[in-house]
Amino acid sequence: MQNQFAIDVSRIRQEARKNITKGPVTPANKADLERLLNVLNQVVATEMVCYLRYTQNAIVAQGIHREQVADLFREHADEELDHFKRVSDRVNQLGGNPDMDPATLVSRSHTEYVTPAETDLQGMIRENFVAERIVIETYTEIVRWIGESDPTSRRLIEDILEEEEEHADELNDLYQP
Ligand SMILES: [Fe+2]
Ligand SMILES: [Fe+2]
Repeated sequence: MQNQFAIDVSRIRQEARKNITKGPVTPANKADLERLLNVLNQVVATEMVCYLRYTQNAIVAQGIHREQVADLFREHADEELDHFKRVSDRVNQLGGNPDMDPATLVSRSHTEYVTPAETDLQGMIRENFVAERIVIETYTEIVRWIGESDPTSRRLIEDILEEEEEHADELNDLYQP
């Protein structure tokens, strides 16, 4: 039979013991760790910038539809913060340092921090919508780039990507071109 599953359990047992300080990272993780950590820290920064933009917009929004729009922004902000924490946790698991340095946040983020006037609800919706479309594209590329090298990191980004697509869809419903 072709493609038989064959592993050297005694070697795996020895290495698991010998390299115990590497935590959950085993030789089965084929990712270029340094580059992966760099990319994941870009995602950490992106999520924080999105959290801040949504939160700011939810607080200052004014106008006749403010309640509906602010509610959606708050909901998205909560989820961006959750993404931020989950990716930070993954960086830590991989032996890296989650980079939360505010000084470099904007330069590492894929999305921009644009905040239209308080009364310009459509402008806010547009800017958040654009940001969601940016992360949908960059996270899809990250998923492809990780490929089979680190299934857990890939699945994490895939899960987040799915939520970003929901965000974009919800903003699309409110957006008037
Ligand atoms: Fe997010
Ligand atoms: Fe989002």
